[in-house]
Amino acid sequence: MTVDLRSDTVTKPTPAMRAAILEAEVGDDVYGEDPTVAALEAKVADLFGFEAALFVPTGVMANHIALRMLVRPGGELIADADAHILAHEDAGLAWHGGIQVRTTLTPNGLLSPGDVSRLIHPHHPHTLGTTAVELENTHNRGGGSVYALEHLKAIREVADAAGIAVHVDGARIWNAHVATGTPLREYGALADTMSVCLSKGLGAPVGSVALLKPQQRAEAVLMRHRLGGGWRQAGILAAAGIYALDHHVARIAEDHANARLLAAQLRGAGLGARTPETNIVLVDVEDAPALAARAAEHGVRVSAFGPRLVRLVTHLDVTEKDCLSAAEILARVA
Ligand SMILES: Cc1ncc(COP(=O)(O)O)c(C=O)c1O
Repeated sequence: MTVDLRSDTVTKPTPAMRAAILEAEVGDDVYGEDPTVAALEAKVADLFGFEAALFVPTGVMANHIALRMLVRPGGELIADADAHILAHEDAGLAWHGGIQVRTTLTPNGLLSPGDVSRLIHPHHPHTLGTTAVELENTHNRGGGSVYALEHLKAIREVADAAGIAVHVDGARIWNAHVATGTPLREYGALADTMSVCLSKGLGAPVGSVALLKPQQRAEAVLMRHRLGGGWRQAGILAAAGIYALDHHVARIAEDHANARLLAAQLRGAGLGARTPETNIVLVDVEDAPALAARAAEHGVRVSAFGPRLVRLVTHLDVTEKDCLSAAEILARVA
């Protein structure tokens, strides 16, 4: 038995998703001729109330392209200090985009309106003007924490008053939507650009979508190509994304219930599991790498997320029973 709780990216396409892939109509997307890619982009844009979308291979690329639409080289972006763009994107924004990021630590990765207002630099001979703020919803290192809608609206007001743009890293926006019932369009209405992933909670094998303004799309296509992301018959992958959007959004509630169960079982066994808001359980331990290694020997794969922090992520390929078995094994080896 193996229960893989390292990430929600480890899912395998279901038989029905594979059937959708097999039947996909395709064309060369670099020529703009793949009908399934076009259908996916139109569908995701419509879900969030955007006018343009671009299908790209990864969430990292979607964040990168969208943020470069908002912040030019030498410009400044605000983000929380644990944001995925800082912690896990290999300084790509600095390397490729020449973007400086101004940060602050927050308890669960979520910026408050006060944080944003304090961090904004007005343009001045001695300060680089801030151009945009990046919000991660849900927040990965924050343990799948969710921005309250009121909170997002207040940040939007602060951004508008300062004349800066808002980008949302919505790799797991589906989890926020399912956990709170907030319509995707409400999230879309509060952002200038967004990135959303198809290959995490939705269970598609590959792919993310950058949501953009129509006038940004041509430059975004050029940037994707420059980054080596011009893909040909990508409709094979877009078909999986369309299938996931049609069939895998509502079921994310099961992942959240499994995460709550997992955390409760671990706490019951005396482990320091934090209560999850969505599908990510953070557990405070003495020695995370040692625990991850011992758990793996017993068929439970978890991520050492820091020296004393373990991350467990529920997803399409783990059942309630898997979570109960995993909790038992983790409690035993801890
Ligand atoms: C919040 C967040 N944003 C972006 C990404 C990047 O996605 P990808 O691995 O598809 O590049 C991840 C990946 O886990 C993530 O958790």
